[in-house]
Amino acid sequence: MQKLTIALAKGRLGEKGLELLERCGIDGSAMEDAGRKLVLYDKTGNTCFILVKPSDVPTYVERGVADIGIVGKDTLMEMRSPVYEMLDLGFGKCRLCIAGPKDALERAAAAGTLKVATKYPNVAKEYYDARGIHIDIIKLNGSVELGPLVGLSDVILDIVESGRTLKENGMDVLEEVCQVSARLIVNRVSLKTKKERIQPLIEDMKRIV
Ligand code: PRP
Repeated sequence: MQKLTIALAKGRLGEKGLELLERCGIDGSAMEDAGRKLVLYDKTGNTCFILVKPSDVPTYVERGVADIGIVGKDTLMEMRSPVYEMLDLGFGKCRLCIAGPKDALERAAAAGTLKVATKYPNVAKEYYDARGIHIDIIKLNGSVELGPLVGLSDVILDIVESGRTLKENGMDVLEEVCQVSARLIVNRVSLKTKKERIQPLIEDMKRIV
């Protein structure tokens, strides 16, 4: 049997991804007591899991270190990696939004610049370029909601799931950029060379999702 390497995000998306893979017959029991290990194998040694930071999943798949990966559409939009996006897996649903205090856009318009804090600078640029609006992008790596709270930015572009983080920090969704969810991505070469492992898995996933 051909060896298949799967890049899974550490955290919620990876857990849900593993659940789906197990429903497709992949033995994910090694993950139960993974501890701090980053590379794990199933009992046969034919399936390898690598546990990576969510935003790095496309990189491992693009470079062929992993054959397939499970990643949020938001990350894919930002990274623009040359990988095949094969399936919308239907979980990890959330919205990419512009958010901030209610009057943030009016105040920024009056000031003549719109400062946007985000983990997604490419997505932000594309969104505002399409609207002919020049923005000042401030790249952050987390706790993006702090931006408008401390005066670093006027608004944020970030994912909103339950809306709790925004609410607890006195902000609202001002515009919805798009809806996102988890996607199955496949390395371009692996799709051809490991067809006999990847194709049945895709078919199983399609049946389930
Ligand atoms: C994400 C996102 C928001 C929050 C949204 O952050 O960046 O901050 O979740 O979820 P909610 O609408 O359910 O409150 P994450 O938990 O990934 O942490 P981070 O801020 O360190 O990126």
